[in-house]
Amino acid sequence: MLKPILAANWKMHHGPTEARAFFRDFLAHTPRVTGRTVVFFPPAITLRAVQEALQDRPEFLTGVQHVHDQASGAFTGEISAGMARDAGARMALVGHSERRTLFGETDEATGRKCEMLLRAGVIPMLCVGERLEEREQGMTEQVVLRQLEAGLAPLDAAQAATVLIAYEPVWAIGTGRTATPEDATTVHGAIRRWLRERVGEKAATMAILYGGSVNRGNAKLLLAAPDVDGLLVGGASLDPSNWTAIVNA
Ligand code: PGA
Repeated sequence: MLKPILAANWKMHHGPTEARAFFRDFLAHTPRVTGRTVVFFPPAITLRAVQEALQDRPEFLTGVQHVHDQASGAFTGEISAGMARDAGARMALVGHSERRTLFGETDEATGRKCEMLLRAGVIPMLCVGERLEEREQGMTEQVVLRQLEAGLAPLDAAQAATVLIAYEPVWAIGTGRTATPEDATTVHGAIRRWLRERVGEKAATMAILYGGSVNRGNAKLLLAAPDVDGLLVGGASLDPSNWTAIVNA
């Protein structure tokens, strides 16, 4: 997968009709993208509409924002990794801070989800990040590395090396308060060192994305920061013109 990776997390925005309108505008202003990977994480119910809109643009990938940690069963409202793959998802977010804080996703569950996804042939994008009070207490690395360890726990080194990592400090998500490129590099460097212990040499080629209040104004600087291999973007990915600017940053 080519780096940088630019990932759009639409959260609970853009149903099929809005997605079609988004792509009419976005694709008209975005000629073929090369030398980078662009992936959309729409709501699962919008996935089909996104894929139809992108059928002539195979350079764009799609994924889901969430899967359950079981293969099937009586889990009303949930979808499984296998279903996501069947529906054409190439990637899935795991452990996004909103899933952790609002929906009780535990460290252990993130590990099971990564395992289920890889078994189904879907690449997990494991999200990690500290809350403001944890940062203020100097616990950033401790928290991030704990989340990494749990998310990759069931995987052997070769499997773990295929997981994408997104560092998203919780205090920067949707707040307009972005980590500086230096902040991002510091934490990404710590993640990379930890990964080297865990998976060996392959850590050098693993992608570590930054997320949290990325916008068209700061994307280029963040992407240029050492150890930043891509961006996971929420709010600014909803608007075609902002997203075009970020994809080309
Ligand atoms: P934001 O969200 O860009 O709106 O801060 C990022 C995310 O939650 O992935």
